Parts: sequence; C-alpha cells; structure tokens
Amino acid sequence: MEVSVLIPAAGNGERLGLGPKAFLRVGGKTLLEWALEAFKGAAEVLVALPPGAPVPKGLRATFMEGGRTRQESVSRLLEAASLPLVLVHDVARPFVSQRLVGRVLEAARATGAAVPVLPLPDTLIRPEGEGYGEVVPREALRLVQTPQGFFTALLREAHAYARKRGLSVTDDAQLVRALGYPVALVEGERAAFKITYPEDLPLAEALARVWNA
Ligand code: C5P
Repeated sequence: MEVSVLIPAAGNGERLGLGPKAFLRVGGKTLLEWALEAFKGAAEVLVALPPGAPVPKGLRATFMEGGRTRQESVSRLLEAASLPLVLVHDVARPFVSQRLVGRVLEAARATGAAVPVLPLPDTLIRPEGEGYGEVVPREALRLVQTPQGFFTALLREAHAYARKRGLSVTDDAQLVRALGYPVALVEGERAAFKITYPEDLPLAEALARVWNA
C-alpha cells in the first residue's frame, strides 16, 4: 500500500484508567501491535507515543513524541509523512479488517478525503436539563470511525487552517470539512469500535479470539 499510516497513540487512556492504550494488552498483544498488524502492508507507518513512554523494540514503525491533544499528535505525524496519501488511525481501535482499509483507501484516492461511518442503533435525545428531551432522528445521524484517508497535502492544509483559527476537534475529517472540502463516507464496521470504557475490554478479548481464526 503506497500510503503513510499515522497512528496517534499518545493518549493516556484516562477514561479507561489502565495507562496509555498503546500498551494495553488484548488477546496477548498490545493495541499498538494490533494496529501495526492491520497496516503491515503499508509503505510507511508513523506512531505518536506519550512523551517519555518507552519506545517499543522490534516493531516496524517510526516512533515520535505525541502532543498535548490528539490533534497535535496527528499534526506532528503529518509533518513526517513522506507519501501523497495518508491514513489516520486511532490505536484504540484494534479490529480493523483489510476490507475496511480497502474501502477507505479507494474512496480517499478517488476524492481526497474519506471516512468510515455507521448508523446508530439506539434512540437518541437532547436532554432537557436532567430530563428526557427532544428526540434526534437517528436515521439522520452516523457515528464516525477510523481509519480516515486523505490526500496528505489536503490534511496538512486543514491542520494549518485549524491552528490559525484555534479550532480544536476530535477527528481529522472535521478539519478538512472546516476548510470547505467535502469528505466522502464509506461503510464502517462494528468490530472497529473504540476501546474506551472498562466494559469494552471483555468484548475486545472475545473478538480477539475469533479475529484471525
Ligand atoms: O482520547 P481519545 O479517545 O479521543 O483519543 C483518540 C486517539 O488519540 C487515541 O488513539 C489516543 O492515543 C490518541 N491521542 C494522541 N495524543 C493525545 C491524546 C490522544 O495521540 N495527546
């Protein structure tokens, strides 16, 4: 794959409370190892680690120090990317199929920016104070996953624009859209969920057992 894969892995996993997720073990492997395996066909893999974290040995990737936010970590990785196409992937999503990567890459190559999305199964509301509020039609909403694919030059421009404007965001597609470029949607996968809460771990362990079976 002629693509630079950028893995922001510099978070401290505060909501999970088990230290940096990059080093969290699921199915006998760290989340970082899962991510590197998912992108082992990539020409270049760059990883942002928490400042001061030990650099893992024997893994095929270039490691650097992350920033104070995810956005800053991705900015640093972007500066080092050497190929015209990038995939940005959160280390907290270990279960990334080759089909998912293929869909994102194909759409990103064709359009310049593409992200995987999924419909939401629950009823969604905007609470009124402490109480039930207006229902937000779930058909109108999608949840956004990674990997997200972009022309490297476009994402660099989007990050520069965000720095200038002081925008602070949770994913990269938002920045590209803020710049005025459309972002294509491809079908996401439930298995590519983000490990966030302690309850996610038993689910991840179960998935790890069947993932490569
Ligand atoms: O905290 P959140 O779930 O939004 O983090 C998403 C991703 O961003 C994680 O993979 C995390 O390691 C990464 N991150 C980072 N640098 C930070 C904060 C988060 O690379 N300063």
